[in-house]
Amino acid sequence: MTFPTSPVQLCEDLREGGNSSTWARRASRLRRVHVDAPAVDIAPRWVHTMHAMADDDAEYFDAYADMSVHKAMLADRRRNEAYKKALALAVAGKVVLDVGAGTGLLSLFAASSGAAKVYAVEASPLAELLPAVFTANGFGEDRVVVVRGRIEDVTLPEKVDVLVSEWMGFHLLHESMLDSVLHARDAFLKPDGIMLPSHATVYAAPVNMDAWAADRFDFWQSVESFDMSAFVPSVAQQALAEPQVTCIQPGQLLAEPQVVAELDLATISAGELSEIGTRRRYRASRDGIVHGFGLWFTCMFKPTDVVLSTAPSARETHWKQTVVLLPEVRARVTVLCVPCARV
Ligand SMILES: C[S@@+](CC[C@H](N)C(=O)[O-])C[C@H]1O[C@@H](n2cnc3c(N)ncnc32)[C@H](O)[C@@H]1O
Repeated sequence: MTFPTSPVQLCEDLREGGNSSTWARRASRLRRVHVDAPAVDIAPRWVHTMHAMADDDAEYFDAYADMSVHKAMLADRRRNEAYKKALALAVAGKVVLDVGAGTGLLSLFAASSGAAKVYAVEASPLAELLPAVFTANGFGEDRVVVVRGRIEDVTLPEKVDVLVSEWMGFHLLHESMLDSVLHARDAFLKPDGIMLPSHATVYAAPVNMDAWAADRFDFWQSVESFDMSAFVPSVAQQALAEPQVTCIQPGQLLAEPQVVAELDLATISAGELSEIGTRRRYRASRDGIVHGFGLWFTCMFKPTDVVLSTAPSARETHWKQTVVLLPEVRARVTVLCVPCARV
């Protein structure tokens, strides 16, 4: 088998023995890696009763006990700055609900910004340590109340003025957590309450992945001077089986990005989320092979002027960008290989 130098050949190789049907299944598990969390042995002071969870939910929330997942989020300065600034402008004197509090950073931002009360709801085992975090930072139960459980299962003693959540997954909608946030909005947000973030937009553009493909495939041409290119189809199959979370350079874009989804978090329903789909026509701005489509998002935090962009032109965030490589459909690939093609 020869080295797949273009999407055409790469896809033809897959047609011979490949299987890309795992794409969606694997994508849905990208951040749902199960890890065994160490047992937490403390007597929580403020933690409310945890409700029973289905097995798959328990596995999902156990994954969120993996501190490396949280460290990646906490180390994302651009993410943190956006939430910090928006909360500082929006929550003084207000009652705030933090859906999926995790390690508690957004609740801490809200409390530090003068929120009258913060409800920090978290379903993973991390909830048991949150009281210690809030106490260590000077916030007692009169200011921050920890509620352990799925937001869908808990009750709160009052409606809230502000709902904050960091629910965004890779290419925005990768995780299904937005459904939970919308449930929280409908159950707990006052009619004139605000959502942070308030709006989200997904963009897509055709991308050239020459450097990425070379990095993935060239290696197998010569390993200690031996030809191992027979493995290239397997490598290609694995690469096509799931979206690639990677940094796209602006120069890799072959056409102007276009909006493919716009979400108003104050009004969108879970039902509408399941129907997101669009067709777009791109005019190529330069020659190049289209290996796939790059996806990214921006969030607005209205009524503040804060915007969090994860675009290739913006400074890197932990979401990077996502590239969905083209599937092995011969007709589409043939068109896509024409330089300056309209896609
Ligand atoms: C992306 S993390 C954000 C953590 C934290 N808010 C931050 O910004 O660093 C999402 C968190 O929401 C929690 N979560 C997801 N779905 C939830 C639900 N339905 N109810 C309660 N917590 C949930 C997860 O366990 C995880 O800790």
